Amino acid sequence: ELGPYSHFMQKEIHEQPKAVSDTAEVFMLGGFEPENFGSKARAVFNDCHSIKILACGTSYYAALTAKYWLEAIARIPTDVEIASEYRYRSVIADPKQLVITISQSGETLDTMEALKYAQSLGHRHSLAICNVMESALPRESELVLYTRAGAEVGVASTKAFTTQLVALFGLAVTLGKLRGHVDAAQTQAYTEELRQLAGSIQHALNLEPQIAAWAQQFAHKANALFLGRGIHYPIALEGALKLKEITYIHAEAYPAGELKHGPLALVDENMPVVVIAPKDGLLDKVKANMQEVAARGGELFVFTDLDSDFNASEGVHVIRTPRHMGILSPIVHTIPVQLLSYHTALVRGTDVDKPRNLAKSVTVE
Ligand code: M6R
Repeated sequence: ELGPYSHFMQKEIHEQPKAVSDTAEVFMLGGFEPENFGSKARAVFNDCHSIKILACGTSYYAALTAKYWLEAIARIPTDVEIASEYRYRSVIADPKQLVITISQSGETLDTMEALKYAQSLGHRHSLAICNVMESALPRESELVLYTRAGAEVGVASTKAFTTQLVALFGLAVTLGKLRGHVDAAQTQAYTEELRQLAGSIQHALNLEPQIAAWAQQFAHKANALFLGRGIHYPIALEGALKLKEITYIHAEAYPAGELKHGPLALVDENMPVVVIAPKDGLLDKVKANMQEVAARGGELFVFTDLDSDFNASEGVHVIRTPRHMGILSPIVHTIPVQLLSYHTALVRGTDVDKPRNLAKSVTVE
């Protein structure tokens, strides 16, 4: 069942080019049409002026990424909330707000209860983005889009996350078109970017030997910081969660601009700092944040792309993905942080597929 792989997590990381293509196929073949989300979707989308996304764990980080796309591409105001917090808050319901739940399993109790709470307060429209067919969340929702990741066995979410991102990007383009913010030429450009995604993910997977070499150093650390900015901040969060989950190394993620507001005090020569720094509009800002780390003796591990111009130096390690993937860059930059956690866990000898204290599907409160 594992084929050439040592663990399900490694297998599932390597299945991502296919999982992502399979999920994108809905939009490649069917176009960015509301009907991909259900026969009632056009009417529902036309009736909504904003979005609330509810999710837990890695699925919540997919939601945070989606907020950037939904607001930038579809110009639709989007709130994101951890399901277990939302359900215990006094919420002001809005019948014209689309409630989206994101869940690999479709069975996460907190997400389910948050959806029911939203409905009880008067939210009429809901969309579930799930991987497991006919699970509880799609059954409870008005609309559904299934990711096509295939079965995910490892407790750590990998291909479920990147396929959720593809589905959410597809949703953003669909709503952008429907709302008149995305024209035919732009639709064509987004389609082309989706077409190239699997190849770029494969290139990132090919970096595995370099990342495994970094893992040798990471395995001996007690803590790590992950930094990102803008649309790559949720990927820093995901990198820190993956590291915590399967290596038991304490890791935290920050938007890099927040460093000087507190976490910089943690930085010394024992603190590895992972930076997700592709060449986007914020790269110069991220570089300034990296200087702040270097000046305190922190060791930098930078994931960037070929288009950026900085080089490795004393205390600064650099791994480059082959090219900048524009608006889909967060999907490609997820692969290196997954591989870093996986290989660090291998060196530490932890149970990669079944980390202690965790379950694949959290059906309790
Ligand atoms: O099945 P779901 O996507 O609803 O699960 C949500 C979280 O429990 C899940 O993403 C969890 O954080 C993963 N173990 C992360 O790798």
